[in-house]
Amino acid sequence: MTKIIGTKNEIPSMLNRRKFIRNSVAAVAGLAAFRANGMSYFAGNQGLKDLYKNDFLIGAALGSQIFMREDTDILNFIAGEFSSITMENAMKWSNIHPAEDKWQFDIPDKFVDFAMNNNMHMLGHVLVWHSQVPKDIFLDESGNRLTKNALLKRMESHIQTVVHRYKGKVNAWDVVNESITPEDGWRKSPWLEIIGPEFMDRAFHLAHEADPDCHLLYNDYGMDSPKRRDFVVQMVKDFKKKGVPIHGIGMQGHYHLESPTIKEIETSIEAFASTGMRVHFTELDVDVLPYDWERSAEVSTNVEYAQSLNPYVEGLPKDVNDKLTRRYEELFKLFLKHRDKIDRVTFWGTSDADSWKNNFPVRGRTNYPLLFDRQRNPKDAYHAVAALKQ
Ligand code: GLA
Repeated sequence: MTKIIGTKNEIPSMLNRRKFIRNSVAAVAGLAAFRANGMSYFAGNQGLKDLYKNDFLIGAALGSQIFMREDTDILNFIAGEFSSITMENAMKWSNIHPAEDKWQFDIPDKFVDFAMNNNMHMLGHVLVWHSQVPKDIFLDESGNRLTKNALLKRMESHIQTVVHRYKGKVNAWDVVNESITPEDGWRKSPWLEIIGPEFMDRAFHLAHEADPDCHLLYNDYGMDSPKRRDFVVQMVKDFKKKGVPIHGIGMQGHYHLESPTIKEIETSIEAFASTGMRVHFTELDVDVLPYDWERSAEVSTNVEYAQSLNPYVEGLPKDVNDKLTRRYEELFKLFLKHRDKIDRVTFWGTSDADSWKNNFPVRGRTNYPLLFDRQRNPKDAYHAVAALKQ
């Protein structure tokens, strides 16, 4: 079954249905074993994945330590609440392929087995990105910048090896991440400087050749900004003309309590869907902490200033918690309104304890961006999101 973009009817729908069914059948034995071992303490409960099963997948990004420690408590929790998983870092180039002839498949293999055994959808993150790559990826042995052909070869071998290894298992790949800036089109990354914008076309073709059934995404943040939205729409139109196989757009969704507005997010959902793309929310979280971007340079040197940026160490005040709850409720109302266009809503992390938002953009803060608290208990925001489906 080959899928190249074209008319709406040719767009693979939610998570490549046929393959999902095939995976599901294959996973039944594993799932039965999981239950028989008494590990499914969620049996009988309705996790978010169950409540939203007719709407879209509910996903989470997982840290490598979950698989290193084989932490069954957290694995059971994940299997009970989420229908899709992503590795936060373990499948990025620097982790899975740290040097030309060195591959690290241990954690990704465990991740894939876990998802298969629990009948979960899997998103591979990420094939081509300018960040979290080995430091010499763009250099030859003498330390000079690679030629266009040499870099294309490197990209080819990486994509072929990784996608082929998980062919028929990983349902969707973020093929390219963050290669457009909000202001002026293509990001001036070494990929662009050495190969030109056609590095994008090539990456999608390579992924498609390695696994023709796989659902392929372009993923970026700030997708609600009008310039970036328009640029992505034009890029998809050009891809379609050229026959570049792309099936979906990932809106990362690293949001704040008040921005972007629901209207801005909605405009992008509609714009991307109108090009025939499936829409994925790929890295959702809501930052509740203050941050003054103008003064960011002072953070490391000014302790008083840094403390003022970390006001909720002892707990989230009720009014802020209420705002967070309403924000999530509004977001999920919007997602449900557009459930025909959205395949997946993935949170970037599982609980507040493991969110990257405790360390970005300021290190060592206490943030509250997800639906589960530091003890992995559901927060008010969780109950509000669940209540929309009860
Ligand atoms: C981006 C990337 C993710 C992750 C987050 C921060 O959104 O796509 O892989 O690195 O930043 O954790």
